[in-house]
Amino acid sequence: MMLPNYVQIYEVGPRDGLQNELQSIPTSVKIELIERLASAGFTHIEATSFVSPKAVPQMADHAEVMAGIKRKEGVVYPVLVPNVRGMEAALKAGAQTVAVFAAASESFSLKNINCSVKESFARFEPIIGMAQKANIPVRGYVSCVVGCPYEGDVAPSVVAKVASKLYEAGCYEISLGDTIGIGTPKQVRSMLEAVIKLVPANRLALHCHDTYGRALDNIYAGLEMGVSVVDSSVAGLGGCPYAPGSSGNVASEDVLDMLHKLGIKTGVNLADVVEISQFISSYLGRQPAYKKITN
Ligand code: HMG
Ligand code: MG
Repeated sequence: MMLPNYVQIYEVGPRDGLQNELQSIPTSVKIELIERLASAGFTHIEATSFVSPKAVPQMADHAEVMAGIKRKEGVVYPVLVPNVRGMEAALKAGAQTVAVFAAASESFSLKNINCSVKESFARFEPIIGMAQKANIPVRGYVSCVVGCPYEGDVAPSVVAKVASKLYEAGCYEISLGDTIGIGTPKQVRSMLEAVIKLVPANRLALHCHDTYGRALDNIYAGLEMGVSVVDSSVAGLGGCPYAPGSSGNVASEDVLDMLHKLGIKTGVNLADVVEISQFISSYLGRQPAYKKITN
């Protein structure tokens, strides 16, 4: 299949990136990060999550973040919601797109959201109902789409089942997460083949973590199969508190560099993103985790 002309980057740095940071990051820094990402041209910036502050303390200031950002026209600021309580809080904070998160592995589901995969669907149902009533799009995540930190390999048929349940429940887009960055292009292809039989490729996104440096290869495999939404995180920030050993999301800088060199448009200014990457990395006291970008 031909590569797409345009890829939408779904920037997850402020949420997936920062949720794993142990040091408490001031709300003002999060707001500056989000606003600068919007100025760089990202149209989808996952801003925060309305989860339990006991589970993920870094996201406890979710309402303040949502209240503080100056929203740019044409930019959406999705937030994660785990349950009705989170959805009520997200609506109150003015969220205009939300995301629910499921897993293709029972053990990960239990660790991450304290319920089975089946129970998680019962939790999502009322959230999606509330969103439809408020005319708010819901994104659906599936974690562990090729491997699970607790169970090992995950079968493509299981991923396809979970993805199609989210799609049929009303999610406008399904983001397929290689949560621990274990996948190879061959595995990603097999997984996508199974999913695309049930969910159209233009409703899918790839969400790769870069633990073994294979995220770009996996994304390329996805592009060849018709996926044109890619999740990434400025400076390669991130990881999941419930996926020990997994490193950050693939760096937005690396994804933009590859796409632009392939002649694929994104609407995002890479030089601006490199500056933002330096800003957040120096705040966190470390080097940005992107590879060397060539001109
Ligand atoms: P639970 O224990 O089943 O729920 O947690 P509960 O109703 O028994 O509540 C437990 C405690 O949390 C209670 O407090 C509730 O009040 C509180 P306590 O009585 O102990 O003081 N609580 C809440 N507080 C604020 N907002 C809420 C809320 N709900 C309950 N909405 C729950 C279930 C899902 C809530 C919890 O396990 C949780 O918040 N987990 C967070 C999981 C998370 O954020 N994981 C990281 C994001 S997912 C990810 O990173 C993967 C992704 O990037 C894709 C990929 O890479 O694969 C998306
Ligand atoms: Mg993630």
